[in-house]
Amino acid sequence: MTTDLPFHLRGNYAPVNEEVTALDLQITGSLPAELSGHYLRNGANPKSGTSPHWFAGDGMIHGMRLREGKAEWYRNRWVQTRALNEPDAKMIGETGDVDRTIGVNNTHVVSHADRILALVESSFPCELSPELETLGVYDFDGKLNSAMTAHPKICPVTGEMHFFGYGFFEPFLTYHRVDASGALVQTEVIDVPGPTMIHDFSITETQVIFMDLPVIFDFDLAMQGGMPYRFDDDYGARVGVMERGAVNTQPTWFDVDPCYVFHPLNSFDTTNDAGEHEVVIDTARYPELWRQGSTNFKNDAQLHRWTLNLDTGAVSEAGLDDRQIEFPRVAEHLVGLPNRYGYVDSSFDDQNAIVKYDLEAGTAVGHDFGPDQIPGEAVFVAADDATAEDDGWLMTFVYNKSTDSSEFVVLDATDMTADPVASVALPQRVPFGFHGSWIPDKD
Ligand SMILES: [Fe+2]
Repeated sequence: MTTDLPFHLRGNYAPVNEEVTALDLQITGSLPAELSGHYLRNGANPKSGTSPHWFAGDGMIHGMRLREGKAEWYRNRWVQTRALNEPDAKMIGETGDVDRTIGVNNTHVVSHADRILALVESSFPCELSPELETLGVYDFDGKLNSAMTAHPKICPVTGEMHFFGYGFFEPFLTYHRVDASGALVQTEVIDVPGPTMIHDFSITETQVIFMDLPVIFDFDLAMQGGMPYRFDDDYGARVGVMERGAVNTQPTWFDVDPCYVFHPLNSFDTTNDAGEHEVVIDTARYPELWRQGSTNFKNDAQLHRWTLNLDTGAVSEAGLDDRQIEFPRVAEHLVGLPNRYGYVDSSFDDQNAIVKYDLEAGTAVGHDFGPDQIPGEAVFVAADDATAEDDGWLMTFVYNKSTDSSEFVVLDATDMTADPVASVALPQRVPFGFHGSWIPDKD
C-alpha cells in the first residue's frame, strides 16, 4: 500500500530507477542563446528504492546541457559513491572512527576552480565530469580533515571558496578556506558548546558567519538508526561572526531567538546611521525543527532578518514576510554583497510558486505554476549584458502531477508573471530534490 510509505518515498519524492540520456530535446518557447553551459541538480534517489529518511538516499544528479539556444541533452546519473557501491562500507567504524570517503553525496553540486563537486554534509565531496561521470572522492589533495558542508560559499570578489564541516565528535565545527586556484589554504577549529546540525553558513565581504542553533545530536536517536538530531530547548541559539582571513581566532557570538535555519538567502556588511559596522543575514527561518522527530517534517520557514551590530553587540530580528518558503537563492555575483532581490520556492499545498523578493521595496511577486505543477529550487543566472540586478533568468525543474512528468523551465526574472521563456519536456520525471548550479561554459 503506497499510502503507508513515508512522504519521501511517495509521489514525486519517490526515486526513479533508470539512468536516462536524451539528446536534442524539444523546446517550447526559446532558450536564450547566451545560456551555454550545464544546469546540474542533486537530490536523494535511493537505488534500493527505500531509505530511512529523505536526506539519506543515494545522490543522483539531473543535468541539462544547453548550448546556443539548444537543449543538447538531459541525463540523470547516480553519484557513484562508496556508499552506493560498497554496501558493507560503514562511515562510522566499531571504534568510533569516521571514514569521510563514505557518504551519499546527494545535497548540492557546485563548481569551483574547474572542478564539479557533489556534496553532502557528512562526508568528503565526490568529483564529477560535466557529463556526470563520477571521477572519485575529492579531499583537496589530502588537506581536508573534516566533512564538507553542501553549502560552500564562493566569494565573487576574490574567487575564494569558504566552507565548514561539522560532526558528532570533537572538533564539532571546522572552517576551511580554499583559494581561487582550488588550493585549501586555511583550516581553523571553531569552538561551539555541542554537536549541532549545521547545514549552511554565510559570508560577507569581510566576515564568515556560523549558525549554532538548537538542533543537537542525540545518541539515543542515533542508536535507533534515524536522523540523530532533535530540537533542544536548553541549548540556546547563537550566530558567530569571524573576520575573513583571521588566523587562530574565534567568532564573536550573538545570541538570537531559538529557531532553526537550513538556508540563509544572503548576508552582507553595512554601516548604520551611527557609523557602526553591521552584518545583515536574511534566512528561511523555522520557529523550531524536529521536536517530535525528524520524519514529521512541517515546512513553516519564513523570510527573517538578523542584523548584528559588530561594534555594540546588539542584535535585531525581524520577520520580513509570512509566506512559507525554502531554497532561497541570490545571484551568484552578489554572494556576500548587498542584494536587492532574492528568489525562493514557495510551493506548499496547492500554492506552487517561485517568488522573487524585492528587499528594498519590501515587495514580492511570484510565478504561480497552478495547482498541478510544482517547481523546485530556482537558480538565478545573470544575463551577459545585465544592466540591473534581476536582469537574467531562473532555472528549475517543474513536476506536473496530472501527467506524472517533468519539464526544465526557464523564467525571465524581470517578468515573473509572464509565461516561461522556455520549457523543455523531459523523458522521465525528475524527483523533488535539493540544490543545483548553473555552470556556464568558459568563453
Ligand atoms: Fe541545503
